[in-house]
Amino acid sequence: MQKVMSLLDNFQVSAPLVNALIGIALFWLVKYLFNTIKRIRSLPPGPWGLPIVGYLPFLGDHVYLQFDQLSKKYGPVYCLKLGDFDVVFVCDWPHMKEAVSNDALLARPHAAFFPGAVDDRSFGEMSGNPWREHRRLSLHILRDVGLGTSTLETLVKEEIDQFLTTLVNDGESVDFKKKISHSIVNNISILLFGHKYDHDDPAAIAISAANEEIGSSLNFAGVMAFLPWLTTIVFKFKLFNLAKVLKCFQIVDSHIQDEIDKHQEKNSQEVVDYIDGYLAEMKRREKQTKVDDNFSIDILRRNAASFYGAGTETVASTMEWVMIYLVKYPEYQDKIRSEIADVIGFERRPDFVDRNRMPFTMAFIHEAHRIGSVVANNLLRRASSDTKIGNHNIPKDSLVIFNFWSINRDPKLWPNPNKFDPTRFLTEDGTKVVKPPYLIPFGAGKRNCPGESLANVELFLYIVCIIQKYRVKVKPGTEISTEASFGLSRRPSELPTLIFEKISNSD
Ligand code: HEM
Repeated sequence: MQKVMSLLDNFQVSAPLVNALIGIALFWLVKYLFNTIKRIRSLPPGPWGLPIVGYLPFLGDHVYLQFDQLSKKYGPVYCLKLGDFDVVFVCDWPHMKEAVSNDALLARPHAAFFPGAVDDRSFGEMSGNPWREHRRLSLHILRDVGLGTSTLETLVKEEIDQFLTTLVNDGESVDFKKKISHSIVNNISILLFGHKYDHDDPAAIAISAANEEIGSSLNFAGVMAFLPWLTTIVFKFKLFNLAKVLKCFQIVDSHIQDEIDKHQEKNSQEVVDYIDGYLAEMKRREKQTKVDDNFSIDILRRNAASFYGAGTETVASTMEWVMIYLVKYPEYQDKIRSEIADVIGFERRPDFVDRNRMPFTMAFIHEAHRIGSVVANNLLRRASSDTKIGNHNIPKDSLVIFNFWSINRDPKLWPNPNKFDPTRFLTEDGTKVVKPPYLIPFGAGKRNCPGESLANVELFLYIVCIIQKYRVKVKPGTEISTEASFGLSRRPSELPTLIFEKISNSD
């Protein structure tokens, strides 16, 4: 202690120096306060929250409900400070319609979605030109290998034939969740890898389980999204239960890497799937220039993983909502079956084009999208320059969330919005289906869902094929809950035990 005191005695600080230091500190404090007030005044209104973390500690599990609640108090466009970011929420149709077509709102956050877990980005996480180029190329390859064509429709129908056999269980319950998930994985596997899996293939089971775990543990608009530095630490040191999630990312990645390795060994000139197409593009670029950082095996792996994840979880969750509402309202199931009888019959397989003559079936699917709100809010967007939404200024680098949930349950758009009612999409005489522009389950604008055409084919064909062959039921007295759980998608928190009873006219 004596030593410290004598050191301090020797450390002579002159008064002018102290004054200068205090002056600098004051200057920085005033500048900081001035900038903070300027920033807050330039943003849409919203609650203050706490220092550093902002409103984060107040976020619960079903964030889309809270985002909607806050819009009732602060207006349809408001701002929350969430961790490191100012996040602007868009919660009504007029502003969302404007925002989804604003080119300054197409970017993603600077950090990867789950830094520390997966640092290489898929195109779903990219911004600017790399995103544009990757998205264009990815869609081009997928179209070449079947997306949006009758070839893919045929492959999906073959997969459904196989899937339907797995539902036969002598009137006993069936693990629908698992079976639909494996089947949907196969449709995307054909596009990405050029093959599908047996329903009991251990690799397919492990990947579905891994995707399931990732989907239920993480959330694109949850706490981790807004503190990327903390997320990196948590993943790097495998804190909390995230060691398990990290393992799941590794399972998916290493499986996709195996597929890429096999394609590279085969070294085929023919492009039959996404990996072939991407590798061919890499070779083409290598010939033209020395190195192209935008195209790499790491990005290919992440692109395939994001198609794989985004293309299965969403469709499988929608199918789970469909099952809930088919058993909750057997009269709607009968109506769909009677359209099947009129338009398709019980002998031939449905074609996607049959949807044009099946208004009630299409209305049922639209209503399942609306009420299920599987993607309750978009993946985070970022303002790439200063811009506006309505009269509100949106400064560069603010994050933006479109809360689709608010639109889907807005009583001004949908009378009695909590009621499942497919007839809201039908003309008065019930002969035509009308889809209003504000039903946007796949988002809208230049960054909408690239899998929309596949999802539409899948949903129509799976639903019609199931109802053509089976009466979907629950045991008498079963309570059918419409409660949801929320992770990467919003899905039923529990499916009732489903029974698939073969109907006599399909024998
Ligand atoms: C019912 C099924 C589906 C729903 C409701 C859905 C919904 C969405 C939505 C709302 C977005 C836009 C996010 C934004 O605004 O930033 C999106 C993006 C995306 N979806 Fe889907 N999707 C579905 C199926 C699929 C399928 C089958 C695939 C794959 C074939 C897929 C792959 C993707 C990808 C890769 C993105 C990111 C696009 C980008 O950032 O440019 N989705 N999806």
